[in-house]
Amino acid sequence: MPIRSLGADQIRAWKGRLFPVITAYDEPFARFAAEAGIDVLLVGDSLGMVVLGRATTIGVDLDDMARATAAVVAGAPAAHVIADLPFGSYEASDADAVDAAVTLVRAGAGSVKLEGGARSAARVRAIGAAGIPVVGHIGVLPQTAALTAGFGRVADADRLAADAAALVDAGAFAIVLEMVDAAVARELTAAVAVPTIGIGSGAGCDAQVHVLHDLLGLTAHPPPFATRTADVASVARDGLRAYADAVRAGTFPPERR
Ligand code: KIV
Repeated sequence: MPIRSLGADQIRAWKGRLFPVITAYDEPFARFAAEAGIDVLLVGDSLGMVVLGRATTIGVDLDDMARATAAVVAGAPAAHVIADLPFGSYEASDADAVDAAVTLVRAGAGSVKLEGGARSAARVRAIGAAGIPVVGHIGVLPQTAALTAGFGRVADADRLAADAAALVDAGAFAIVLEMVDAAVARELTAAVAVPTIGIGSGAGCDAQVHVLHDLLGLTAHPPPFATRTADVASVARDGLRAYADAVRAGTFPPERR
C-alpha cells in the first residue's frame, strides 16, 4: 500500500479553507484529478449509477467498492481517498461496519464515508475505535432516499444540527451535506468544528464535492444542481467517430514507418 501524505487529521484542520473533492472510480480519472491538483478523492457509491448504469446506489456492494477503491489509489497514490460504505454493509451492526471499513482500507482507502446522522453515530464511533477515520453524510441520503424521505432539498435546521453534532461527537472528521438548503448549510458550517463538504448545498460549505461524470459532461441525466465544467462526452464521441470512419475508409491503422 502506498505511503499517503495526506491524512484525515490534516483534512480536519482545513476547517474554514475552501477545498475541492471529486468522485473517482477508476485509475485514469483518479490520475487526472491528482494531476489537476485535487488532493481528496471520493470513491462514491454513485458508481452504481454513473459507471454501472443503474437507477440507484442500492445494488452497489462491497466488492464493487473495493475494486474501484484500489483502482483510484493506483491512479492517485498520494491523494486522500475516501471510500463509501455501500448500502447493506454497515446497517446491521457495529461489527459489520468495522469489517466493511477494514475491507475498504485494505483496498487502499484512507477513510470511509457512511450515510445518516444520529442514527449512524454508533457506527462512526465503532469504526473510529478500530483506527479508521470516518466522514459523515447528512441531508439527502441516496441509499435510503427512495425508501424514506425522498430526494427533496433538506432544510430542517434543528434536525441537521443535531445530526451533525452527533457525528462530530462520534468522531467524524468531515461531514458531507447533500442537497441541504444553502442558508442552512452555511449556518451549519459555521457551527460545526469539522469541515463540511457540500454537494447541491450552496457555496457556504468548507469544501465542495461533485460527481466526476456530472462535472465532465458524461452523465445523460445529471441532477438539477450539477455543474458541468467540460464536455468530455463530445471529445469521446468525436474520437470514436474518427476511429470508426477511418476503419470503414481503410485508413486505420495509419501507416507507420
Ligand atoms: O456517492 C457519491 O458520489 C456521494 C456524493 C454524492 C457525495 O456520496
